[in-house]
Amino acid sequence: MLNTNDSSELYRLRTVFLLIDVVRMVEHGTFTRDHSERVADSAVLVAKRYGMPQKLLGIVWRSAILHDIGKIGVGNDIIFSKSKLSPGAFYIVQQHPVFGHELLRRTGSLQLEAEIILQHHECWDGSGYPNGIRGNDILLGAKIISIVDTFDALVSSRGYKQNWTFDSAYNYIKKNVNKKFCESVFYSFSHVYKKGGLDSIYKRR
Ligand SMILES: [Fe+2]
Repeated sequence: MLNTNDSSELYRLRTVFLLIDVVRMVEHGTFTRDHSERVADSAVLVAKRYGMPQKLLGIVWRSAILHDIGKIGVGNDIIFSKSKLSPGAFYIVQQHPVFGHELLRRTGSLQLEAEIILQHHECWDGSGYPNGIRGNDILLGAKIISIVDTFDALVSSRGYKQNWTFDSAYNYIKKNVNKKFCESVFYSFSHVYKKGGLDSIYKRR
């Protein structure tokens, strides 16, 4: 997928892995690397199905694997809080795309990825965060990540919730097309899902 003969591509890849290592150190081994890898691999499959040119798939992969990097700016006490978040803490959580954007922008080599990460919680109907942008103002990479990130979050068990079945997660996404999610990206996701494209990604759990 990635052309590592290209020195700038290799530089970007090194930067991505450096950032992942920083996150792992800050989070003391609790970094949800599996989640990020599943989101990244699923995002690339959906992007391919959508017809995204091969040369742009690396942008999607890098954005997806780093999509939640801004959570290191939120703080573990909030991220791992078992009690209901205060409005102030919730606001800080909603700033993680902004923190991630700022971090990646400063690498000087991941500018597009920074913009995609800024938008990965925006919704088709404008109800998302941090800026409440809507529709096709949202970058394609962010619209793809939004769907595969939601799918992964639903089918994963977390401390506070059971995992959903794959079909329930798929139906939730379908029900929220034109609300949270972009319809044309959903069609690509749906095709990948129904053809069993996600099976190899989720077998490794
Ligand atoms: Fe996120």
